[in-house]
Amino acid sequence: MANNKESFGSKFGIIAAAAGSAIGLGNIYRFPCEAGANGGGAFFIVYLGIVLLMGLPLMVSEFVIGRRSGKNPVGAFKTLAPESKGWTSIGYMGVVCAFLILAFYCTVAGWTIDAVGKSIINYYHGLDKVTIQNDFNNLMNESWQPILSEGIFIFLTAFIIVRGVTKGIEKFSKILMPILLGILIILGVKSLTLPGAADGIEFFLKPDFSKITGKVLINALGQAFFSLSLGMGCLITYGSYIAKKDNLTSTAFAVCISDTLIAVLAGIVIFPAAFSFGIKPEAGNELAFVTLPMLFDQMAGGYFFCLIFFLLLTIAALTSSISLLEVPVLYLTEQLKISRKKATVYSAIGAFILCVISSESLHDGSPLRIFGLSVFDSLDAFTSTFLMTIGGLLTVVFLGWKMKKSDFMDEYTNGGTVSMGLRRIMYFIIKFLAPVAITVILITQFIK
Ligand code: PFF
Repeated sequence: MANNKESFGSKFGIIAAAAGSAIGLGNIYRFPCEAGANGGGAFFIVYLGIVLLMGLPLMVSEFVIGRRSGKNPVGAFKTLAPESKGWTSIGYMGVVCAFLILAFYCTVAGWTIDAVGKSIINYYHGLDKVTIQNDFNNLMNESWQPILSEGIFIFLTAFIIVRGVTKGIEKFSKILMPILLGILIILGVKSLTLPGAADGIEFFLKPDFSKITGKVLINALGQAFFSLSLGMGCLITYGSYIAKKDNLTSTAFAVCISDTLIAVLAGIVIFPAAFSFGIKPEAGNELAFVTLPMLFDQMAGGYFFCLIFFLLLTIAALTSSISLLEVPVLYLTEQLKISRKKATVYSAIGAFILCVISSESLHDGSPLRIFGLSVFDSLDAFTSTFLMTIGGLLTVVFLGWKMKKSDFMDEYTNGGTVSMGLRRIMYFIIKFLAPVAITVILITQFIK
């Protein structure tokens, strides 16, 4: 199918941009929270299995759909299945999901910006755990400060989006992610040498199979989809920018490996340090935002590392949030023919309003709750364990059962020009294994 829109400039550019979307707060903030709350090693092993058996094939599927159609998620399903309108609901779900994720994502990004500010003035230096914990809780209860940092974050996201795809996204992703990786390795070494670190490593890496429950499975599935930016059309959108000559499997593989590597490193940094400082693995938000400043304070050059780390984390969050905002923006420009600038402004304002509601819901005693959870936690749970998993399921079902196998193979092998040794296994997973596994996990969870 014709695809004459802007493409990513190089193979490395796509990997950098898709990895930029994948690597973000999900790896460094959310992954440790989920692993900590779901039994550590048991969660970790399930997570790895899901990334390999479902994450990678689903990512390939999204790339195939995006590149084949050359469109945003709504337009993609309209183009590939023009006679059956139902499939476009996957695309609409993705657009809604992007907004909902942005709302709580920007809240956490706001905390990261706050940490950058505190790092600049060397605020954390010499503070004890209780003071950092209290400060963090106070931040959530503040009225204006979080709104200001969220506003700055959304403004930056919108600014990059208006500049367009190749110029904006590629440039920011290419250089900075490898530096983030380097800092995480240095931090990991430091964390592992703290007293009591071994307990943290044991918690994180030693699986206790008796702890694998339906809840662990669904949370690991949700985390994998969240971390890899799957199940909501984001990578369909990016797929639409991939050049026809690029190899989709090796691209998806590189993205999955780098994303998982960063998450694992985050676990290796956070759990030993948390155990050493007496922070519980179930501590949630505090795991990253209290443990890390304490760790930096123990290091030679801690001021410098702390500042660079939180700056890079903010940038990693930005390369993810631009991929989120790109979903509604591309929908509005392609389907509703609104200019890119206007589409960005409308979407950013909508996301900002939701974000303010999400962060206000974290105030002590806030009435902004849904089924007993704060709006922030509800949005997080609803998107990752429901919208993204259902979106992922419908995507593989579409590819395996609705799209012609020959069309899939044609796109997947770049019109037969690259030989994909694993194409039959990949197709089998997409058609049978992934849909069955996701359905079983969803059913076990919802029956409960
Ligand atoms: N994958 C991002 C992260 O781990 O921080 C979050 C995200 C980005 C989720 C884009 C979904 C998405 F479409």
